[in-house]
Formats: sequence, structure tokens, C-alpha cells
Amino acid sequence: MQIRAAVLEEFGKPLVVQDVGLEGPKAGEVLVRVQACGVCHTDMYTASGVDPTGYAPTVLGHEGAGIVEAIGEGVTSLRPGDHVVTLFSPQCRECIHCTSGKTNICLAIREQQGLGYLPDGTTRLHRGEERIRHFMGTSTFAEATVMPEIALAKVPSEAELDILCTLACGATTGIGAALYIAKVEPGSTVVVFGAGLVGLGAVAGAKLAGAGRIVIVDPSEDRRREALGLGATDELAGGDSVVEEILEMTDGFGSDYTFEATGLVAVMRQAVEAARMGWGQCVIAGVAGRGETLDIIPRYLITGRRVAGASFGGARGRDNVPELAQLYLDGKLPLEKFISHHLPLEQVNDAFDLMHHQDGIRTVLTF
Ligand SMILES: NC(=O)c1ccc[n+]([C@@H]2O[C@H](COP(=O)([O-])OP(=O)(O)OC[C@H]3O[C@@H](n4cnc5c(N)ncnc54)[C@H](O)[C@@H]3O)[C@@H](O)[C@H]2O)c1
Ligand SMILES: [Zn+2]
Ligand SMILES: [Zn+2]
Repeated sequence: MQIRAAVLEEFGKPLVVQDVGLEGPKAGEVLVRVQACGVCHTDMYTASGVDPTGYAPTVLGHEGAGIVEAIGEGVTSLRPGDHVVTLFSPQCRECIHCTSGKTNICLAIREQQGLGYLPDGTTRLHRGEERIRHFMGTSTFAEATVMPEIALAKVPSEAELDILCTLACGATTGIGAALYIAKVEPGSTVVVFGAGLVGLGAVAGAKLAGAGRIVIVDPSEDRRREALGLGATDELAGGDSVVEEILEMTDGFGSDYTFEATGLVAVMRQAVEAARMGWGQCVIAGVAGRGETLDIIPRYLITGRRVAGASFGGARGRDNVPELAQLYLDGKLPLEKFISHHLPLEQVNDAFDLMHHQDGIRTVLTF
């Protein structure tokens, strides 16, 4: 079939929305009619050409949600009509990582996905004779996509897909950092550095977990206000003195949990140093620039602070995303507050402009 899709033709140039061919699902694959897709930094980062692993042409997009239209041979967990959230981080439930119970990093399709292919090493996207590669195994800046069954989370059909799509990346990354990596305890003190979608997700996750105090650190007053609306109790503007300010707020000890959601290595260091002596847990969610390193004075570790990183908030997509969608339906997770703009697919480049100017938290493309 022919679908409208936003194609990255050339790095550093606007995406080109056009008709491309999409073939039906093969064994283990599912055809999804995409209803909504958030626009994330990783899409813009790849389009810019800075990412050395990037390739073109490809259909970008990885924060998708849609409705199953057809299933390939052997697909048992999904059927036409099911509502799904796309997972750039799949969950096969069979590989040594999935069965370990220790990580959400599934090994099943990693290699081919990284190269832009579906698990069998081919693509379903094309333009006449020319094959077009998939992006992050998702390619959801498109009216439809074909994805492996193991990379789709089935979600309750009562929930709006243009809100649930945030669970495909940004929101789950932050919420999961609080719930699945830090496992924030009731009454604890939390500091979140950065109030973009990931940081706001961490605020929402910490609130859900019953944190007693949630400090948001962000130079943007608008963004701090968003965080206060989600349950943050204190705000700081950040900068060189922020660690001291956090120590002052915590009787000189530091915070039980700290979350970094800026991608800046200097802020990551602050997040480590602001964690509590004895048991403070620092979770790094931001993605640093290529080649950058994080400086940690070892004494901070000897005196009991721990540092962890997480991809996709440590979430096991097929298990956890449906649970988070249910929490949204139950009124416990206000995902709708993360969305500031809706735009049609044709205006995908305007969504990049909004992100570039830090206008709003998340733009969702609709189809
Ligand atoms: N680990 C993952 O799986 C994953 C998934 C998605 C995004 N990310 C990464 O998470 C990070 C955050 O993503 P986002 O979409 O929320 O980004 P964003 O750009 O919307 O938000 C970053 C925020 O950091 C704030 N900031 C800037 N300087 C600061 C400072 N000195 N102190 C405190 N805050 C400061 C900015 O004002 C902004 O509000 C990025 O690095 C992104 O690449 C990681
Ligand atoms: Zn993303
Ligand atoms: Zn696996």
C-alpha cells in the first residue's frame, strides 16, 4: 500500500513528507495504522546528522500509538483492532536479558534494528525499486508501519492514543526512572534536574510513588511551573551553586534520590553530588553528546552514593506500558499535561522548530 510518511532524505535538511510504499506484515510482524506520534529529541538529533550511527533515507518517528490492522503468520498476542503503543525497546520475554529479571534491554532484534531493518534483515518500506530503512524499529512519522509483535504494547482501547503515545518514549523514560530504576519510596526526598518530558515524567513517577518532597531544578520558569503542577514541591533555577542549595534544603545530607534529565554532563555530576551520603541513588536518564564523559569524585561513591543509568526508564515495554496506560485511565498519571501542541504530519518540521525553541513540552503529530 501507499502511505504518507516523513522521510529523512538528507542530514541537516527538513524532512520531506511524501508517499512511500509499505508492504504487509511477514511472520511475527504486525501492520499498525498509526494514530498519533510524539516528536522527540532523538528524531531531531538523527535528522541533524550529528548521530554517527544515523542513516538516510529513512522514515523517522518512534513515539507512536495506533491500531492493529493486520497480523503476520504466527502472531498470537495481538489481533486487528487492538490498540498499541510502539516500543523502540522491545521485550521478547525469551532472551537471556528478558528472562534475567535484571534489565529491560532485550537482545532479540537489536542488531538488525540498529541497522534499520526488521528482524529478518529486510525492510517493508520502499519507494519504487529503492528500499527505505526503518528507524529505531518503529518509523512512526507515517500513516502506518510494520513492526515486530515483540515491539508493540497492547493498551486499553478506552484511552486516547494521542495521549498514550507519550508512553512510547519520553514519559515512560522519566516515570520508569522513578518507579523501576530508583524504586522511590514513600516519604522520600527527590530532586529532578531538567523539566522536559523526561524530567516531568520523573516528577510524576515520584509523586505516584508517594515521595514527600520533590525539588525541580530547571533554568526555565515556565518549565518549573509545569513541574509544580505535576507535584513538585520546591523549585531551583540550577547553576553552579545548586548542589549547595540542595544540601542546605536537606540538613546537609543530600537527596534520597536524584534524577538527571538534561543530557548535560555537568548537570549529571551535580546530580551525583546532590545525592544523599549513605544511600543516595542518582539516576542518569539524559543522553550526553558523543565523546563526553562524566566526572565523579570517587569519594562520593565510597560514602554510599549509587549511580545508575536507564534506557526507556528501565521499563519492560509489553508489561509496563499497559500498566502505565491503566494508571492514566485511573486518573493517577496525568499524561495529558505533557502535551502542548497537536500538529498534522505534514507540519512535522514545525514540530522540530517548536522543540528547538523550547516552546511547550511535547508536540504530538496526528494523522
Ligand atoms: N534514556 C532514554 O531512554 C531517553 C529517552 C528519551 C530522552 N532521553 C534524553 O533525556 C534528556 C531529556 O530529554 P527531554 O525530552 O526531557 O529534553 P528537554 O530538552 O525537553 O529538557 C531538558 C531540560 O533541561 C533543562 N536544563 C538546561 N540546563 C539545565 C541545568 N543546568 N540544570 C537543570 N536543568 C537544565 C532545560 O531547560 C530543559 O527544560 C535528553 O538528553 C534526551 O536525549 C533519554
Ligand atoms: Zn525518544
Ligand atoms: Zn528479549
